[in-house]
Amino acid sequence: MHLKRSYLVPLSLLLAATLCSLSLPQEERAKNLKVLPKNISHEDLEKEMRSYNKALGVKCDFCHVRQTDNPKKLDFASDDKEEKETAREMLKMTMRINKKYFKSGKDEQGAPMMTITCYTCHNGQKEPASKPPASLAPPAPPTPPVTQEAPQQH
Ligand code: HEC
Ligand code: HEC
Repeated sequence: MHLKRSYLVPLSLLLAATLCSLSLPQEERAKNLKVLPKNISHEDLEKEMRSYNKALGVKCDFCHVRQTDNPKKLDFASDDKEEKETAREMLKMTMRINKKYFKSGKDEQGAPMMTITCYTCHNGQKEPASKPPASLAPPAPPTPPVTQEAPQQH
């Protein structure tokens, strides 16, 4: 009796997992996109989001709030974090700059090609620098070429 049961539990878990994974794609559809195309593929959305992480040197939780009932997970659709709204404005600005000043076209799939990206300004920083750091040292003078080897010391 004991033996049978210990098989049944993992089996039912496996079945549950299979059913869940079958219904995932629909649940994964983004439900609160206001700037990005609403029909963006899951893959492209993820690529876009990862590029934000790299451009600003942050993790996903910089823009996305944690779920109230499960703080280990993020509530991606929520707009409760100010940085997410800022990012939307930034995205609109970036698209406008590309269109207006760089006449960026579209690639073969019809996706806009970006000349200017988040990274162009942010360079891995949350807040782009508007001037070079004050501590930037002038370039060191070139070292004179070594013409003779120093005498060896014993
Ligand atoms: C710099 C801010 C920023 C970072 C960092 C960021 N996101 Fe986002 N994310 C956004 C914005 C802005 C939107 C909404 C875009 C829109 O409205 O078109 C969004 C939307 C989403 C959505 C769609 C949610 C829905 O249902 O509408 C998902 C999923 C998502 N992000 C996942 C991620 C993941 C995963 C990461 C980390 C790899 C991440 N994001 C990092 C700003 C960010
Ligand atoms: C033309 C330059 C430029 C581009 C392109 C740009 N940003 Fe920004 N971003 C800035 C500047 C400058 C600030 C700081 C604004 C301030 O201090 O008021 C900033 C601030 C931000 C902030 C707020 C950071 C904080 O500390 O709260 C977020 C989030 C952000 N940008 C996201 C993005 C994302 C995402 C993209 C690409 C879709 C992007 N930015 C593209 C110039 C740019």
